[in-house]
Amino acid sequence: MACEMQTIRVELGERSYSIDIGAALLSRAHEILRGAWSHFPAAPHAVLITDHHVAPLFADPLANQLTTHGWRISTFVVPAGESSKALAAVGRLWEDLLACGADRHSVVLAVGGGVVGDLAGFVAATYTRGIPLIQVPTTLLAQVDSSVGGKVGINLPGSKNMVGAFWQPRYVLIDTETLRTLPEREYRAGLAEVVKYGVIMDEDLFAYLETHLDFIQRRDPEVMQHIVTRCCRLKADVVEIDEREETGRRAILNYGHTFGHALEALTGYDQLLHGEAVAMGMDAAARLAVALGRWDAACWQRQRRLLEALGLPQRWPQVDLPQVMQVMQHDKKSAQGALRLILPSRLGHVELVRDVEPSLIHRVMRECQDPSSASPAARS
Ligand code: NAD
Ligand code: GLY
Repeated sequence: MACEMQTIRVELGERSYSIDIGAALLSRAHEILRGAWSHFPAAPHAVLITDHHVAPLFADPLANQLTTHGWRISTFVVPAGESSKALAAVGRLWEDLLACGADRHSVVLAVGGGVVGDLAGFVAATYTRGIPLIQVPTTLLAQVDSSVGGKVGINLPGSKNMVGAFWQPRYVLIDTETLRTLPEREYRAGLAEVVKYGVIMDEDLFAYLETHLDFIQRRDPEVMQHIVTRCCRLKADVVEIDEREETGRRAILNYGHTFGHALEALTGYDQLLHGEAVAMGMDAAARLAVALGRWDAACWQRQRRLLEALGLPQRWPQVDLPQVMQVMQHDKKSAQGALRLILPSRLGHVELVRDVEPSLIHRVMRECQDPSSASPAARS
């Protein structure tokens, strides 16, 4: 049964915007876009940025539809994958925008996963000091996380997301039907971010995931619309009170990410998907919270069981642990080398914890690589 479109409003003063979530929204995008954003001129010019997987699936049909309705569309396709989040791609796109006559009245349409959203968003934030951006996320990860909140940017060699900007979209259009074509591994990786929201902010969402596993495996449209909508609301709540990650509130979204980013970096960004690394990082953070007496071991076990049921890996690869420590200390979330970790204190609640003993972190990471090395209590 098709369910009605849901709308989430992100209240950020003059940068406020709506997120519409529903099935088959792309098939009537021209009408939705015009209704959602009254500032469009009669014949809008859109720069549509996508990748080569998403182009034939969703971006080309969208461009055709909008062209039929009087839009001028300039489409640019980047190679799929993290390597497109780089300065070279930005430079080419700046030139492309200039060549197609884009100006401050044009709008950038980012159609794709988090890579396209972050890259196109950064181009929108910087070209002529900023042009409007509309996010059309097509992966689960992008729908529940990266398309909302305005973080855009690119990687430097060996340093993820190191250059970027806060550039809020004017509007986010989420068609949950795009999830149907997503490769299984990418879909599961997106689910890691969904579990994250449950642990950090919403015990009810966590319990909903536990009781709807079959629906989630089948990508049931109604269940997925409910999950995506809830995650967008949770993210919007955080962004509304700490848009630029200044008070520590937005940092809670990085649960599992400090460990996860280090694992991604040390495996060359080409072995683990972001969500897989986050699942491993959440297990490490949970073990640490239990070892510090901050979290109940039974809750950690619930997190373990849920991640496992969703097909997410938790056991760490054999990376060099002192190197993991080093990379974490250089993470941009660290303050002058001092680690700041997001650790759960109860299901649905996390805290920012400083000054955790490095030897304890090391012990926990060893357990993550080799769970049989854990103390009997930690293995239970
Ligand atoms: P991605 O953009 O690389 O997409 C994953 C793969 O799926 C790609 O091959 C893509 O072509 C393909 N794809 C996309 N939609 C599809 C569909 N509907 N059907 C079939 N294939 C499809 O990866 P991602 O996981 O979406 O995003 C990861 C990126 O997001 C990372 O660079 C990460 O740093 C970034 N990120 C940003 C934020 C933020 O707040 N800005 C938050 C989390 C992650
Ligand atoms: N994905 C983390 C953030 O948006 O802050």
